Amino acid sequence: DRKTRIAPSILSADFANFGAEIRAIEEQGADWVHVDVMDGHFVPNLTFGPPAVKAFRPHVKTVMDVHLMIAPVDPYIDAYAQAGADILTAHVEAGPHIHRTLQAIRAAGMKAGVALNPGTPAEAVAHLLDLADLVCVMTVNPGFGGQSFIDMTGKIRQLRAMIGDRPVHIEVDGGVDPKTAPLVVQAGADVLVAGSAVFRGGSVAQPRVYGDNIRAI
Ligand code: DX5
Ligand code: ZN
Repeated sequence: DRKTRIAPSILSADFANFGAEIRAIEEQGADWVHVDVMDGHFVPNLTFGPPAVKAFRPHVKTVMDVHLMIAPVDPYIDAYAQAGADILTAHVEAGPHIHRTLQAIRAAGMKAGVALNPGTPAEAVAHLLDLADLVCVMTVNPGFGGQSFIDMTGKIRQLRAMIGDRPVHIEVDGGVDPKTAPLVVQAGADVLVAGSAVFRGGSVAQPRVYGDNIRAI
């Protein structure tokens, strides 16, 4: 029986109070902390880079799950290892050498993740499953929080079959809320990223709602 983990995305947190926001979601039941890195090039939005991620590290007691929406990836792998990422996920669409990228992430001492945009078929990771600890199925086109869920349950089922008994997580990212979460878990996902659904209705002054939101997913 596979445990379902909730990984709140701090993309929907208060950007002036990341430390307090991270501590609040963990105290209230987050299994992992999902960190969305965007470069204004691979995706049309810009968030933060290695120095900020390094500053988050002491506040994260669980697992820091860093999702790179950047291209290229390889020149920054060591910087994210230094910053303390536990899992580093790169997009299969980010360059021609994802196989090399996943090897380099593991060689730098992190778990390796590979993410698929909604338009990318499951087959794109067929030759990567022994190099990856996690496959991230995007259920929105990456770049922004709060977008509506795109149904990728067919792709999740296909990936679960391809993975077989390898110890590879299937993470789902985008538009996950109490309505869509059961669909992706049913299809075989075991890590649910949720940004707006977790931070909705809360604030640094009033973080108690985060636990209720996490349990609702
Ligand atoms: C999308 C990011 C997601 C996003 C999820 O570009 O990779 O992690 O923040 O946010 P919600 O849950 O609001 O769709
Ligand atoms: Zn993400």
